[in-house]
This record gives sequence, structure tokens and C-alpha cells, in this order.
Amino acid sequence: MSGYAAPKLDMVRIGFIGLGQRGPGHLNNMTKLEGVKINGLCDIRESSVKKAAKLLDGSSHQPVLYSGDKDAWKKLCESKDIDVVYIATPWDMHVPMALYAMEHGKHAFVEVPAAVTLDQCWQLVETSERTRKHCMMLENCCYDFFELLTLNMARQGYFGEIVHAEGAYLHNLLGLNFDKNGYWDMWRLKQNATRNGNIYPTHGLGPLCQLMNINRGDKMDYLVSMSGNDFSMEKKAEELAGKDDFFKPFTGKNYRGNMNTTSIRTKSGRTIMIQHDVSSPNIYSRIHKITGTKGTALKYPLPGKISNDTKESWLSDKEMQELEKKYQPAIVKKMGELAKEVGGHGGMDFLMDWRVIDCLRNGLPLDQDVYDAALWSSISPLSEKSVANRSSAVDIPDFTNGSWKTNKPVDILLEQGGTTKVKL
Ligand SMILES: NC(=O)c1ccc[n+]([C@@H]2O[C@H](COP(=O)([O-])OP(=O)(O)OC[C@H]3O[C@@H](n4cnc5c(N)ncnc54)[C@H](O)[C@@H]3O)[C@@H](O)[C@H]2O)c1
Repeated sequence: MSGYAAPKLDMVRIGFIGLGQRGPGHLNNMTKLEGVKINGLCDIRESSVKKAAKLLDGSSHQPVLYSGDKDAWKKLCESKDIDVVYIATPWDMHVPMALYAMEHGKHAFVEVPAAVTLDQCWQLVETSERTRKHCMMLENCCYDFFELLTLNMARQGYFGEIVHAEGAYLHNLLGLNFDKNGYWDMWRLKQNATRNGNIYPTHGLGPLCQLMNINRGDKMDYLVSMSGNDFSMEKKAEELAGKDDFFKPFTGKNYRGNMNTTSIRTKSGRTIMIQHDVSSPNIYSRIHKITGTKGTALKYPLPGKISNDTKESWLSDKEMQELEKKYQPAIVKKMGELAKEVGGHGGMDFLMDWRVIDCLRNGLPLDQDVYDAALWSSISPLSEKSVANRSSAVDIPDFTNGSWKTNKPVDILLEQGGTTKVKL
């Protein structure tokens, strides 16, 4: 399925499952694209479906609404009027929903991480291969502006050979995890209370894997992963439980360590470091550090910086502007300003949703395939295994079954397609 192009869809008929904090953002983006018909909205909560449907008032979209019971999403997947299912539900529901969608002839687009267990990662791969349906994880950070710039620069050799890269998800979600009005049924807190490792690896990892041709010329070989103690979550749970019985079941748990650091070695001897901490008061960072034989880049703290082997300091603002002019990828030249106007994490969400639809409408391969979804997500269970065994080395499976040697690197360059119009 790497490089696989499904038959063109002139009109992409979409159904959405999961309309909490994330789903409506994708829905809003889709309302702005030509060639899209929104034919289904589903959430277990009727109120969430109704609220999302309001976004479509006055438009030509007339979706069927599905809600009320925990299996209502199956009806959406069974619908004959839907080609594509967008899934933005809690992590442990992604795979059952994606599998059912593909089995019913739909392309599945799944929020991050696509899967929670290794078995689930394999199920995605096997089902996508058998049904010939796309299964893409919606890793929006692959479409952020600095990430796209550095991908294009890497393709043109600016960094020389990439020898090492670092990524992360450092985002203080302590308050949101304990907010009764935050995640549905406190699902994210429960994940944090029962697993120990990097349970949200893909934001930092995805763009680095694209840049380093992982699954497409190189392969992850093994990892070692270390977590420190939990210094924040149990304390927070006890503090809240002292005032509100609701939080009592969330005390006495084995919360994951504040900081997890995972190191990955690839077959060709390159390394990747990935961190996860969503309970310390870090300033938001995905690091995005690239070390090559000829150049280097570092995104955070913002703004991103770049240098090369002719210098011992970061490039000046003026030099950066020249670099951006020279290496700005076509997708940003064409859609960047529009994407910023629509917004969604600074525009990257819109850029991704536009690109997905444009690829489907033009019959082009997607930038992220099912092997990427499986591999990037697998770092969670593999890191948990390493953490549980005093950071011992854990082999990383080859979801491509050897095709990584011949799969073509991804280029988000817009050489084909780019025809989908936007109506603001
Ligand atoms: N890529 C990003 O930048 C980004 C940002 C936020 C969230 N996410 C991802 O999006 C997903 C959803 O996160 P969220 O923050 O929206 O969580 P949320 O809890 O706000 O939303 C989840 C929704 O799923 C619904 N749901 C639960 N069970 C269901 C069922 N059986 N059938 C149908 N709907 C059901 C809930 O009612 C809720 O509305 C997660 O995978 C998360 O990691 C990604």
C-alpha cells in the first residue's frame, strides 16, 4: 500500500465519527473544500452531533446523524453514501472503527495515534492490504510549515546525510486531563493512569520519519526507552479527590512517569530521540531537531533555526528569508496563506485536510500510508515494553514486510494534483 493510488473520487463523500474537541475542526475544514460532500456525522453523544450539524446550517450538506448508542458508528460505516471515514474518538476505539470502515469499503482516516497495541498495528496493515483501502493516520504535524520546509531542504541535500533527529511532545495537559469537561469520560486520564512509556509519540516522530525515509529506504531497527517517576499526576488526583469524590477512583494509580525518553536506532545506523511529557509545566515543544553531515535545524523554541557547515551560528533572519524563498515547497506557496487564514494549529490542519482531499480527487498516493500509521503508533507499546524491562532493547517490527528497501520516499511537493479549490 506504499505509493498506492486508489481510483479517483470526483466527489469525496465523508462521514465523521467522534465530534468532541478534535472532530469539528476537520469538519469545519471540509466545509471549505470543493468536491466534498458531508454525508454522515456520528458521536455517542447526541448533543455533540447536533452541535456539529449546526456548523453545516445553510450549506448544501445534509448528513445523516448517528448517535445514542456506543455502536451507532457501525451504521455510518455501513452507509452506501460514504467513501471516506474520519475518526476522532478515544485512542482505543480507533482500530475497531478503522477496520470496520475498511471492511465496508471505506478509506479510513484516523486521528493520532492510530493504534494502541502491536496487534492493532498489524490489524491495520493486514486489513488495508487486503481491502486495498487507504488507512492514513492524520499526523497533522507533517504539514506544519517548518517541517515542510526542512523536508524539502533534506530532499535537496541541504543537510547532507541525516545522522540524527530529535522530536517530542512536550505539552502541559495536566489541567485538561483532570478537567471533568475535557475529554469524554476522562478517557485520556485513564490512558495516563494505566500505561507507562511514550503514549503519544507521533507528532514529533512523523515529520522526522518522512525526512529520514523511514519505511522508504531505511528501517527502524530497535529502541530503548526510559521513564522517570510520576511527579505530578498522583499528587493532582489526591489534591482534587480531597475536594471532590469524583476524583477518588483516580487516586492510588500507577501514573506514567512525567518524562519518557526513547532512543531508536535505524538499520543504516542513524538515531532518533523522542520525548513525551504532558504533565510538567514545559513550554510547548516538538523539538524537531535535525543533525546532518552538512547542516542542522532546530524548530523550538520558536522561530525555527537552521545552519550549515560553513557557519558556527544560526543563520541570520535575512539568510533565513533567502532560504525560505529558495526551499519553500510548492504546497506552501500555493496553499500556505489560505491555510493560515482558515487556521487550525496555525494552518497545518487545513493544509493536511486539503491535501488528503486533493489526493483522493486526483487519484494520487497519500503522503502517509498504513505502514507509517502502524510504525509511528507502535512506538507506544514498544516503549512500554522497554520501560517495563529496565529500558532493555526492543526490536521494532517491519510492517512493510521488506518493502522498505524499495518504497519511494515521500515528497509533498505538489508535482501532480493541486486542483482542489477552496471556498472561504
Ligand atoms: N492531531 C491533533 O493535533 C490532535 C488534537 C487533539 C486531539 N487529537 C486526537 O483526536 C482524538 C480525539 O481527541 P479529542 O480531544 O477530540 O477527544 P474528545 O474526548 O474531546 O472527543 C472524543 C469524542 O468521541 C466520542 N465518542 C466516544 N465514544 C464513542 C463511540 N462509541 N461512538 C462515537 N463517538 C464516541 C465522544 O463523545 C467525544 O465527543 C484522539 O485520538 C486525540 O489524540 C489530535
